[in-house]
Amino acid sequence: MDTAMPTNEDLAKLRREYSMRGLLEHELAADPLAQFHAWLDEALAHGLIEPNAMTLSTTDATGQPWSRTVLLKTCDSRGFVFFTNYDSHKGEQLAHDPRCALTFWWNALERQVNIIGTVEKVSRPETEAYFALRPASSCLGAWASRQSSVLPDRAALEAAMEKARALHGESPPAPPHWGGYVVRPAVIEFWQGRQSRLHDRLRYTRTADDWRIERLAP
Ligand SMILES: Cc1cc2nc3c(=O)[nH]c(=O)nc-3n(C[C@H](O)[C@H](O)[C@H](O)COP(=O)(O)O)c2cc1C
Repeated sequence: MDTAMPTNEDLAKLRREYSMRGLLEHELAADPLAQFHAWLDEALAHGLIEPNAMTLSTTDATGQPWSRTVLLKTCDSRGFVFFTNYDSHKGEQLAHDPRCALTFWWNALERQVNIIGTVEKVSRPETEAYFALRPASSCLGAWASRQSSVLPDRAALEAAMEKARALHGESPPAPPHWGGYVVRPAVIEFWQGRQSRLHDRLRYTRTADDWRIERLAP
């Protein structure tokens, strides 16, 4: 196996022309969530690995941005729903400042979607309904892992998992510190890669009663 590190020159030369297709105004749905669904359906049909993976960015109390990947689990007229630990770093940050950003990068389709918006917690019944669909081991993991806290070692996590199993058995309830957030979008931008870096960028911005659509320079 070649273990040579890529040089900075190698990185500088990495370059790909995007040429699959364009995105024109007349192709867009009037509602960005309908447009998102159309793109998500194509990503699913294309067999992309985890097409529902999205980068979630939040800011802490000092204004420092943080990012991590989470999975989109519902997308409807409210917006984009993901599930997590409310006591995690992201949970603390969203409690302090509910504004956030989401990014999808569907490389095989040469597409990116950027969203900014504000989160709200979903209802407890919605969390419980989703939790009931998860495999038992994932449910126990939600009890065992104090997400984002420092662990002394791997053994401590495995011991916490055994404790959770002994306590809750094979059908644990949703932990009170675990649940969903819905990101209510204020802006959604659809990006389609084009040749010579002349990409298509079409941005929807929420107005009082509708969405404004604008083209942005790439
Ligand atoms: C593909 C992928 C999907 C993930 N999905 C989730 C998710 O849906 N919810 C979640 O809490 N963490 C998910 N994670 C883990 C997060 O990226 C992150 O490590 C964790 O939520 C802790 O983040 P925090 O310390 O910033 O709060 C996922 C990671 C990857 C790579």
